[in-house]
Formats: sequence, structure tokens, C-alpha cells
Amino acid sequence: MTVPEIRRVGVVGLGAMGGGIAQLAIEAGYQTVGREVSHELGSAARNRIAHFLQRKVDKERMTSAEHKTALEHLSLTTELADLADCDLVIEAIVEDLGAKLELFGALEDIVRPDAILATNTSALSVTEIAAGVSTPERVVGMHFFNPAPLMPLVEIVRAELSSDHAVDAAFGVGERLGKRAIRCHDTPGFVVNRVLIPLLNDCIRVLDEARVSPEELDTAMTAGAGWPMGPCTLVDLVGIDVHVHASEALYEKLREPRMAPPARIVAMKNAGLLGRKSGRGFYPYD
Ligand code: CAA
Repeated sequence: MTVPEIRRVGVVGLGAMGGGIAQLAIEAGYQTVGREVSHELGSAARNRIAHFLQRKVDKERMTSAEHKTALEHLSLTTELADLADCDLVIEAIVEDLGAKLELFGALEDIVRPDAILATNTSALSVTEIAAGVSTPERVVGMHFFNPAPLMPLVEIVRAELSSDHAVDAAFGVGERLGKRAIRCHDTPGFVVNRVLIPLLNDCIRVLDEARVSPEELDTAMTAGAGWPMGPCTLVDLVGIDVHVHASEALYEKLREPRMAPPARIVAMKNAGLLGRKSGRGFYPYD
């Protein structure tokens, strides 16, 4: 089957991930509708996108005209109904199955029958999310990595009932967004998180076992293993709460002790030390 052209993309949830995905979409020339729950959150996301695009202009990786055109491709809304004309909607809301089921149920009633619905979930089952709609064949995973505009990979996740057509269309969009896209099946953590989450949890356990500081651990993994950033810096970037949630979700499915979040990081989450976004995690931030 030929892949239908995707012209208009919706992004629901414009936090760190959704905002980054919306940025990719407008840079790739898609008419993009970004939906947030309030005008304030929508404007904050647009400002972040404008800032990162301006940095590209400053570094002569984009012209001022391209910057302007890209931003003109973004329209913001608080109404799901404004996604009606989208050929593809990418969901990037909170990692809560109930909230995602509710959203997909609502989207199904709004978008055209041939529109594709994608989730950016990192640790929930795409099949379980798809089970919430009466047309699960149009649901796929499009799993981007943080920060989405910089990380080259997108995992295109085939759920149990995803159609070839939906998988191929999502793959084509991933490539047009400039990503290296891989297809995989809907298994816990897909490919990267299945490997990365237990590895990061091992790193955090080593902090106490080897009695090293976060700085020392980060130095060890950057200078000794060639990681682009150390594990503590990375978990702070991803969000302590996001990492704990992903660990718990994988542990629930796989029952492997290494998947379970270490007590130290659960305590950090409970204390509100969420990493960059809260101003403090393993490190302090301005
Ligand atoms: N969005 C858009 N642009 C951004 C950005 C963002 N969030 N963050 C930074 N940029 C832009 C900035 O303009 C920045 O330039 P300036 O500082 O001059 O403004 C530019 O990108 C380059 O930033 P850096 O100098 O920080 O880039 P770098 O060369 O150091 O690389 C990196 C940064 C790509 C993040 C690199 O450190 C890296 O690969 N880190 C590992 C990240 C990783 O592993 N991510 C996966 C996390 S796991 C995950 O996401 C899965 C999940 O489901 C939770």
C-alpha cells in the first residue's frame, strides 16, 4: 500500500517532549497544531521553540526567513476539536494510562477515520493504549528521545493490531523529521529503554556501592565508557519522576530486579527533586 501524504500534524501536550516534537514538525514544513490545556502553557512552549530556533539562526544553521516560516507553521489551541483536520496526531501527555485512554477515545471521535494516532509513550504499552479506541489499527508508537530536536532516533512501535499502513506512514514522518527511524514491536521499553533503564538504575546503585559522588560517576561514564553525558546529568535531563515512572512500569511488566527504581531515586522524587525542571536533582540548576 502506498503511504498517504501527511500534511498536517497535531501534537497533544507541549512539554519537553511534545514541544520538541512540534519543533521538529514545523522545521520539516508540516502545518502543526499544538494543543495544551492552557494558553499560558501553549505560549511557554512556543517561546521555548522560538528560543531554540533563534539559537540556530545565531549559529547560522537556519536563516531568519526559515525561522519565521517555521513558526508560522505552528498554531496553538486548547481545544482538541482543532485537531480535526490533522492527518497524524502525536500524543505526548503525562505517562498515565487512564489519561491516554481518555485522550485517544476523544481523538477518535474528532479526527478523520483515516488519520493516524501515535503515542510518544516511553514505558506504557502501545497495545493497551490502542485498546481504548474502536479502530486500533491506526494506532502506533512514535517514541522520541530527550531532547527530541537533538537525539537522532525515533522508534516506530507496532502494536498488536497496528496496520502496515499506519506503521509505514509514521516511519515516513519520522524520516522526514530528520530522524533515524527503526521499526520495533510493542514490548516493554521497546528497544532503547529496555536496555537503558536498567543500566541507569545500575549507575545509581553504584553511587552508594562504590561511594562515589554524582560528579565522579558522571566522569567515570563519560571518560571511561564514552557516554555523551554522565548518567546523573542524563537522569536530571530526562526528569527523576519520568525515570522512576519508566522503571516502575518496566519492573511491573518484566519483574527483573534491575528494572526497579533504586530507593535513592524514589526518595528524590518524593522530595520534589525532579532534575532540571524543578531546579534540583543530582545537581542544582539556575
Ligand atoms: N530542544 C531544542 N534544542 C535544544 C535543546 C532542546 N531541548 N537543548 C539544547 N538545544 C540546542 C541548543 O540551542 C544548544 O545550543 P546552545 O547551547 O548554543 O543554545 C544546542 O542544541 C546544542 O546543545 P549542546 O551544546 O548541549 O549539545 P551537545 O553537543 O552537548 O549534545 C546532547 C547534547 C545531544 C543532549 C548530548 O549530550 C547527548 O546525546 N546526550 C545524551 C542524551 C540521551 O541519552 N537522551 C536519551 C534520554 S532517554 C529518553 O529520552 C528515553 C525516554 O523515554 C525517557
